Amino acid sequence: MIPVRRTEELAAMRRAGRVVAEMHEVIRAAAAPGVTTRQLDDLGRAVLVRRGARSNFLGYHGYPAVICTSVNSCVIHGIPDDRPLADGDLLSVDCGAIVDGWHGDAAFSMGIGAVAPQARALIDAADQALAAAVAAMVAGGRLGDVGYAVETVAARHGFDVIRDYCGHGIGRAMHEEPDVPNWGRPGKGPRLRAGNVLAIEPMVIAGDDETDVLDDGWGVVTADGAWAAHTEHTVLVTDGEPEILTRLGP
Ligand code: MF3
Ligand code: CO
Repeated sequence: MIPVRRTEELAAMRRAGRVVAEMHEVIRAAAAPGVTTRQLDDLGRAVLVRRGARSNFLGYHGYPAVICTSVNSCVIHGIPDDRPLADGDLLSVDCGAIVDGWHGDAAFSMGIGAVAPQARALIDAADQALAAAVAAMVAGGRLGDVGYAVETVAARHGFDVIRDYCGHGIGRAMHEEPDVPNWGRPGKGPRLRAGNVLAIEPMVIAGDDETDVLDDGWGVVTADGAWAAHTEHTVLVTDGEPEILTRLGP
């Protein structure tokens, strides 16, 4: 059974989610040709400091940064570095924050400068897959509905999903039960109830689903070099519409 969060717990998760959303906003506005991913990491750190939040990425199994920056054929977990972003790059940015012991986690993909049509299509597919998965986060639904939504939208765009990595439960730790695969069978799996919070994270690829890990021990790249997009939100199941917690408040 997926944990049901209490009102005060959800209030803290909303605060963490808003910090993550603010990191996204600042980083999205700054990412451009010539900017390094380390500079983007610094911007993420500044938001965490300003909001009095802690990083759930920094030090996670030794991870050395507060965000992940995955470029082109890097799907997830790219470590920020001093290589400037180039016109036409596809950048995926993953950010997290802890507020009062509760976690938020979210990612987005964007084009740097003018991107090729296929890169644009990957980003759009990942965005739409996430929207469809969020829409499936309703009380009485099943976990399989969420993965099915991701897989179906990716396929409709002519793309596939990564199967080596999943979304996850989230709460007092960044990664909790259950795994949230980007594929599934509708009507199957654990039932969703109001108060469940899951990090849903479509990873959409333009080629084969085989992945490798870089020598730095972190960056996950496609084995065939095909490009990838990654989007993620921390989402609450309610008795009504699903609530995206990693979003700036009204
Ligand atoms: N935020 C990633 C996820 O969605 C995990 C990042 S791993 C870290 O699961 F080491 F970078 F923190
Ligand atoms: Co995640």
